[in-house]
Amino acid sequence: HTPSTGRPANPLGLVHRPRRLRRSPAMRRLVVETRVHAHNLVQPLFVREGISAPQQVNSMPGVVQHTRDSLRKAAHEAAAAGVGGLMLFGIPEEKDALGTGALDPDGILQQAVRDVVSEVGDALVVMTDVNLDEYTDHGHSGVLDASGDVDNDASLVKFGEMAVVQAQAGSQLVAPSGMMDGQIGYMRSALDAAGFPHIPIMGYSAKYASSFYGPFREAVNSSLKGNRKTYQQNPGNARESLHEVALDAAEGADMVMVKPITTYLDVVSAITELVNVPVAAYHVSGEYAMVEAAAARGWIDRESAVVETLTSIRRAGASIILTYWATEFATKLPA
Ligand code: PBG
Repeated sequence: HTPSTGRPANPLGLVHRPRRLRRSPAMRRLVVETRVHAHNLVQPLFVREGISAPQQVNSMPGVVQHTRDSLRKAAHEAAAAGVGGLMLFGIPEEKDALGTGALDPDGILQQAVRDVVSEVGDALVVMTDVNLDEYTDHGHSGVLDASGDVDNDASLVKFGEMAVVQAQAGSQLVAPSGMMDGQIGYMRSALDAAGFPHIPIMGYSAKYASSFYGPFREAVNSSLKGNRKTYQQNPGNARESLHEVALDAAEGADMVMVKPITTYLDVVSAITELVNVPVAAYHVSGEYAMVEAAAARGWIDRESAVVETLTSIRRAGASIILTYWATEFATKLPA
């Protein structure tokens, strides 16, 4: 018997008491398996043509459509916080059926890339999204055929040109998000032929047709009606992601990505078993909005919810996380 309490000592004869390693902050810190580091975070940023002040995105509290000037400032803040990369999205004033603005060397995204690379291009990796959806008046990721379906191979040609135009503007990594078959291989040859064999491609390889992109559509003034189910993946399928990732790797993807992420953590961990290139995860607009909305009502604690979310993504196996919290949380992560 324990003298102080009179209770029998270890009455169950327990040998294993996992709580021993949770007793103090120092002990917990000593045995932690997963840490998130600022250098592995990528901050997505939106830059909009023709505005004179940043515009708040209502469904994404704290996220704005930047002017070219405010974008420079945001890029500086991200670099100063130690963020690993920026993913830039352009919002043009004019849209048309072919997404012509995407190929303009002086289009908003290309101007923004030049601005940002000249300011912080040595401090972090400046990345660009290759997709027509911000530039088309129908809001689809590619160009349409006569029947109104997205024309895969005609869209590839656009993606190839878009990647080259972005690389010419100084983009340091291009990321096709259109889910067209063969997009990695096509872009690789286009970049190589244009003198950019050194520019890496990160495939949005396993990209699901998700309701969690909702707020992003507001962020980029999307005109999409309908859905993207003929090219983005069915949420019920995980093996299909392995197929997509294997194809992208075979076509030369330097990194692969899963998107969204909190509802697809199983997919990330399966992919890390399949390929040996870095695996990225995009914590998307709706996932961000859910946490922000609940936190704003006082229903969850914002900071710990964000850190827990980012940690779970790392734990599942993603080495790179695209998140709207990157700059803010780069300096708030547990050491
Ligand atoms: C395509 C693109 C989208 C997102 C990233 N790149 C939208 C889509 O495919 O519908 C979504 C990101 C988010 O929701 O945060 N340009």
